[in-house]
Amino acid sequence: MLPNNLAVCEYKSVIIYFDFNLAKKMKKAILTAINILKGGGLVAIPTETVYGLAADAKNDKAIEKVFFTKKRPINHPLIVHVGDSNQLAIWASSIPDSAFLLIKEFWPGPLTLLLKKNPSISKLITAEENTIALRMPNHPLTLKLLKEFNGALVAPSANRFGKLSPTSKEAVIEELGEDLYILDGGICNVGIESTILDLTDATMPCILRPGIISAETIEKVLGIPIYHDKKNKPHVSGSHSSHYAPNTPLYLFGEEEIEKLKNENDIAIVSHLHSHSFLPHDMYYLPTNPLLYARALYATLRLLDKKNYKALWIEKVPEDKEWDGIRDRLKRAITI
Ligand code: TXA
Ligand code: MG
Repeated sequence: MLPNNLAVCEYKSVIIYFDFNLAKKMKKAILTAINILKGGGLVAIPTETVYGLAADAKNDKAIEKVFFTKKRPINHPLIVHVGDSNQLAIWASSIPDSAFLLIKEFWPGPLTLLLKKNPSISKLITAEENTIALRMPNHPLTLKLLKEFNGALVAPSANRFGKLSPTSKEAVIEELGEDLYILDGGICNVGIESTILDLTDATMPCILRPGIISAETIEKVLGIPIYHDKKNKPHVSGSHSSHYAPNTPLYLFGEEEIEKLKNENDIAIVSHLHSHSFLPHDMYYLPTNPLLYARALYATLRLLDKKNYKALWIEKVPEDKEWDGIRDRLKRAITI
C-alpha cells in the first residue's frame, strides 16, 4: 500500500514514484523565491556547480545588495543567468556562431560565455568591462525558477568574497547566515564553478576560468584551438592570490614534500591516492576520478576547516586536462 502522497507510474518498464507533497513544496518554494526576487530581494539558488546569490539582473538596487552581502569589491563583474538562450540578444550585442555551437552542446550546463555586451546594460553587472558573462545553469529547480521569473538573474557564488563556494544549503548558511532565503536543491553535482570562455574574439576563444568542461572538450566542438588567457583580465575573481580558500592554512604536497611532512604536527592530509597511509597524520581521501573529486572538494575543505588543524596538506593532482579546473582552484586556495 502506497502512502497518500505517492503516485506510481511505469515508464519503459521503469517504475517511477512521484511525491505530490514534494512537488507542492517545490512549487511553493519557487513562488516564494520569485516574490522575493521581484521585490528586489536576494535568494540563494542551487546550480549544478555551486550555489549562487541571485538578484534580478534588471534591478540595480538588488544588485547592490549582492555586492554588499558578499563583501565583494564593486569592480568584479557578475554572471547573468538565463533560462532561455533567446534572452542572449538582450544582454549581448553580437553573438558569434561559435557561441550557438557551444550553447547547443553544453547548455544548460557549467559553461559561461563571455560576449560583447549590449551597451545599455547596467555597469553594476559588468563593471568597467565592455563584455557580459552569460550562462544557463543546469539545475531543475533553478531552470524552473528562471522560466517562471521570466527574466534573468545575476548570481555570483553564495559565499563571502574570497572564501569557499557553497555546494549545499548548509554551506550557504555557514557563509551568509540564516536570514537569506535559500532554494534548497540538494548537493551540487559538479562542485566547482563553471568554465568561463571568452568569445569576444571568436577567432581566439580563451579560457578565463577552467572548470569541468575542459579546453579540450570545447576544442572538439569548435574545431579551433582554445587559448589559456594570458591577456589583461584584472577583474576575474579567483585571479587574486587567495581565493576559494578555507580559513585553515592550506598547502600542496608531492613526493618531494613527504619527508618534511613526517615531522609536522597537528595537520590533516588530503590525498586522492592511497599510498600515503604510512604518514602519522589524520588522512582524508578524495576520489581519484576528477568529476567525483570536484564534487567533494569544497565540502571536504569546509569540513576540515572546522576541525582546528594547524594546516591542511593536499596532494597535488595530475597534470591532465580534465584536472585543469581542480588544479586551478587548489592553486588559488593555497596559503603563500
Ligand atoms: O558556476 C558559476 O559560474 C557560479 C554559479 C553560481 O553560476 N557563479 C560564479 O560567479 O562562480 P562568481 O561571481 O563567483 O564568479 C564569476 C567570475 C568572476 O571571477 C568574475 O570576475 C568573472 O566571472 N566575470 C563575470 N563577468 C565578467 C566579465 N564581463 N569579464 C570578465 N570576467 C567576468
Ligand atoms: Mg565566486
